[in-house]
Amino acid sequence: MAPKLKTEKVGIVGSGLIGRSWAMLFASVGYQVTIFDIIPKQVSDALEDIKVQLKTLEKDGLLRGSFNADEQFSCIKGSTDLAVAVKDAIFVQECVPENLDLKKKVFQDLDKVVDDKTILSSSTSTTLPSLFSADLKHRSQVVVSHPVNPPYYVPLVEIVPAPWTKPEVAKKTREIMIEIGQEPVSLSREIDGFVLNRIQYAILNEVWRLVDDKVVDVKDVDKVISEGLGMRYAFLGSLETAHLNAEGMKSYIERYGDTIHSVSNTFGETPRMTTSKSADTICAQLNAMVPLERLPERRAWRDACLTRLALLKKEMNTKYKKN
Ligand code: NAI
Repeated sequence: MAPKLKTEKVGIVGSGLIGRSWAMLFASVGYQVTIFDIIPKQVSDALEDIKVQLKTLEKDGLLRGSFNADEQFSCIKGSTDLAVAVKDAIFVQECVPENLDLKKKVFQDLDKVVDDKTILSSSTSTTLPSLFSADLKHRSQVVVSHPVNPPYYVPLVEIVPAPWTKPEVAKKTREIMIEIGQEPVSLSREIDGFVLNRIQYAILNEVWRLVDDKVVDVKDVDKVISEGLGMRYAFLGSLETAHLNAEGMKSYIERYGDTIHSVSNTFGETPRMTTSKSADTICAQLNAMVPLERLPERRAWRDACLTRLALLKKEMNTKYKKN
């Protein structure tokens, strides 16, 4: 039987880059999506942009979900009234700029207009949910669903509860993320940087130290990731990589555990980029690799690579599951 568009509603608050992606993801499985933004022109621009994006994805054979572009677009509306945008929504995804006072204000506004059932989810990549939800009447309905840019091709979503988030809210959020084709990970509690940025910062810190200590230059240290570690990490996490690199993890620990510990003890202090003597030279080397005026072109190339990688991952994952 052909799938049907849903009657359930989702509200999107903030119609920038991330808000638009969420709207497309929810519409891909037929949710009725309403986008709200404080700037009305942002809403109309978002709708126009989404229509073009959906049509282009369809033409290129990359459209997600089982509905066509017109059907998906018919699921998305705009509104300049927050209360209208979130009325009867089962799920609201906040996507306003990363600013604590603004997040607090938006969640206070939402608190006044939602009922006890709506999940209030934030896209924040850095703010702990307790910081903007502590005083809300509906604080047990607040959770973070942190996407990775561009979410249409990078499926990870970190689900981060505040101390007072109801377990069923985090659980339902995870189910919804799976339903829209994303890959959720569930944190048991909030923690600075969540998980993705903690790992990203650990890598950035070591990369910075190696360039700072003149062991390697910017181009080569980045090559270690793009032509080495990243090749594996596109498919396997670091623990499974280790498991496969020996006769299982137990053997990996026996073989490499002490070495990893002693090398790690040489890492040194956490660099402070803002005052580091190497900041100018690192920026200069990066600007030589990608001049600032060519950033949009390089981003477009990155997104094209991610599109192809997403297709390859889908193909490879299907093959593995079949075997
Ligand atoms: P953006 O700056 O592209 O868009 C933000 C939108 O929010 C704008 O359209 C703006 O008009 C609107 N806005 C501002 N105040 C508002 C209010 N009071 N009510 C409703 N709308 C309001 O921001 P972007 O990049 O889409 O990011 C949104 C959120 O997603 C941020 O929390 C960010 O940390 C998070 N995020 C962003 C990623 C990225 O790579 N851009 C990746 C992961 C998360």
